[in-house]
Amino acid sequence: MGSKQGSGGKVTQQVKKAIGIGLLGLGTVGTGVAEVLATKADGLAEQAGLPLVLRKVLVRDVNKRRSIKLAPSLVTDRPDEILAHPEVDIVIELVGGEYPATEYIKQALASGKHIVTANKEVMAKHGYELFSLAKRHNTDIRYEASVGSGIPLISAFQQDLAANSISAIHAIVNGTTNYILTQMAQEGLDFASTLKQAQKLGYAEADPANDIEGIDAAYKLVILSNLAFRTKFTPQDVYREGISNIAARDFSYAREFGYAIKLLAIAKRDRDTVEMRVHPVFIPQDFQLAKVDGVYNAVEVETDLAGKLVFYGEGAGALRASSAVLADVLAIARNIYRGVNNVPELRLNETVSVKPMSDLKTRYYLRLNAPDRPGVLAQISKVLGDNSISISSVIQKEINLPAQTAIIVIMTYPAREKAMQKALSQLKQLPEVNEVSNFIRVEE
Ligand code: NAP
Ligand code: HSE
Repeated sequence: MGSKQGSGGKVTQQVKKAIGIGLLGLGTVGTGVAEVLATKADGLAEQAGLPLVLRKVLVRDVNKRRSIKLAPSLVTDRPDEILAHPEVDIVIELVGGEYPATEYIKQALASGKHIVTANKEVMAKHGYELFSLAKRHNTDIRYEASVGSGIPLISAFQQDLAANSISAIHAIVNGTTNYILTQMAQEGLDFASTLKQAQKLGYAEADPANDIEGIDAAYKLVILSNLAFRTKFTPQDVYREGISNIAARDFSYAREFGYAIKLLAIAKRDRDTVEMRVHPVFIPQDFQLAKVDGVYNAVEVETDLAGKLVFYGEGAGALRASSAVLADVLAIARNIYRGVNNVPELRLNETVSVKPMSDLKTRYYLRLNAPDRPGVLAQISKVLGDNSISISSVIQKEINLPAQTAIIVIMTYPAREKAMQKALSQLKQLPEVNEVSNFIRVEE
């Protein structure tokens, strides 16, 4: 059991009978964690060395009806009852969002409490500051559930891959958008109704725009990149586009060309720069990530020693996240039991910077709506050619006879993003183009 150096240099035994847990948040994940703490109490105590005792639970509304029955004395709407509770050793932050969660975590660390959080926004935006604070106060901060829920990723990056140089990460890390894209691709369902289903299933963030616009995936990419490249990147370093512009016809054209459409989070290291981007991509149908469907997440990591690895599993939902949260709790509890302190490592690689998006070189898919008349294709090809963009295939689709318009689908050879952006703005001005309806990068 934990021992401590006394003031006279003598080692004194700390008699601890339990590990006190303070839970901030009793929503989807908080309820899952509280349930597992109760139903698996004996097994968890056996693993930790001491019982894990829930001391208090913070909610916004104490009068709300809950699916879990807790003694009313356990539930509070006053954060200080947890953050300053003398018998709380570990604070589990499951409130979500940037504030007040960041402040709660800072307060808890400053009062010597260990932190377990599932909050990717806080860790992506304030990770480095919180690690420094934890180090200063000799406390631990763990965040396994913040990326991929129950898929072991943070611990794998921190420990199991520590001897590797990581060159690339390709990841499906948002269950909500992967669920929506899968339903749209396989069932032909529309965007709005599949989003509602994802919300019902507890996958979506409180504000689903965070999922749809790729914000959640960008947070997760920042967390993984900072572990992989020893950087302190923030979400502002990530180029980001969401999925709301994807239409049913994009899936059928993608299939014709042999591709699937996925929202990927990509980080690639090229010497001392790292490109970081989240956007929908065409990926070849035979790639492993193309077959990751529904709420499943997958993170593909390219390393020098371990080769190519793929971490795969359900990336959202109460029990999946609880698995990761409780693994972190157990790791800290074992350290408390043994009297060992694990403080965060802060070894940064200061030479690595972010690669500008304009330097990206990739193939592109373009869907245009244009008048169905002679000379149109020639004008479009000219704009692309003038920007050194070479067309690999072009198909005229779905002619609308009464309106005399056609859909033109173009695949290009690899071109620079800077050139493609210039070509896109010129195409939008062209009288021969009614609309640039979509533009999707290809990842091969
Ligand atoms: P949620 O269902 O929205 O629950 C949030 C909880 O926090 C609620 O109990 C709410 O209280 C409480 N709360 C919110 N703001 C508060 C405030 N200002 N003061 C006190 N209490 C407050 O969220 P969730 O889905 O469980 O997500 C929690 C965290 O886990 C987030 O960081 C999320 O990104 C992360 N995560 C979620 C999943 C998932 O599948 N859902 C998976 C992995 C990670 P009331 O109940 O009274 O409203
Ligand atoms: N909203 C997130 C998702 C929850 O859909 O993946 C898990 O982080």
